[in-house]
Amino acid sequence: GHGYVGELAATLITQDVLQAKIVALAEAVAANHTGDTPPLLVCVLKGAVMFVTDFARALPIPSEMEFMAVSSYGSSTSSSGVVRILKDLDRDISGRRVIIVEDIIDSGLTLSWLHKNLQTRGPASIEIVALLRKPEAVKVEVDVAYVGFDIPTDFVVGYGLDFNERYRDLPFVGLLGEHMYA
Ligand code: PRP
Ligand code: MN
Ligand code: MG
Repeated sequence: GHGYVGELAATLITQDVLQAKIVALAEAVAANHTGDTPPLLVCVLKGAVMFVTDFARALPIPSEMEFMAVSSYGSSTSSSGVVRILKDLDRDISGRRVIIVEDIIDSGLTLSWLHKNLQTRGPASIEIVALLRKPEAVKVEVDVAYVGFDIPTDFVVGYGLDFNERYRDLPFVGLLGEHMYA
């Protein structure tokens, strides 16, 4: 959906460019999972919901899907470093090859925390696939196997990414107009 004319400053990543990158990421991940039991995709709600659905459908191998909801931002535009579990996984992940699917790495605090948390549950492996990363905002280094796009620190929305819960429904990634949050 797109009823946000006038609220966005620009398109950062178009729908076509996003979708092509997701196919490339899916092929790269699949190349490391040939002949395995299906990897378990852990979608980090809510931001990664669009990404995981397109990613799973682009994967040329079977996968299973789980959801975990964590939140680090609340309604602020900068990271608090506080991570809360809002919804935990429904299943045991011991012995499974887990792929954490995340929309964006900003400070890295969410993924760093989540990786440690899931590691304690005895998976066979954990890899991370992140669609976006803001290299200049990173406070904690996270070992990310697959990254879609490195982007500037501007406030980006769309394709799952929100500002006060809005804009997740955009099919592309845009720059939020400064007048919307200044
Ligand atoms: C956003 C985004 C990532 C995280 C990245 O989630 O979706 O999960 O922040 O920031 P970090 O690297 O600084 O931790 P948010 O906490 O806003 O929850 P949401 O996915 O429900 O929007
Ligand atoms: Mn998120
Ligand atoms: Mg958010």
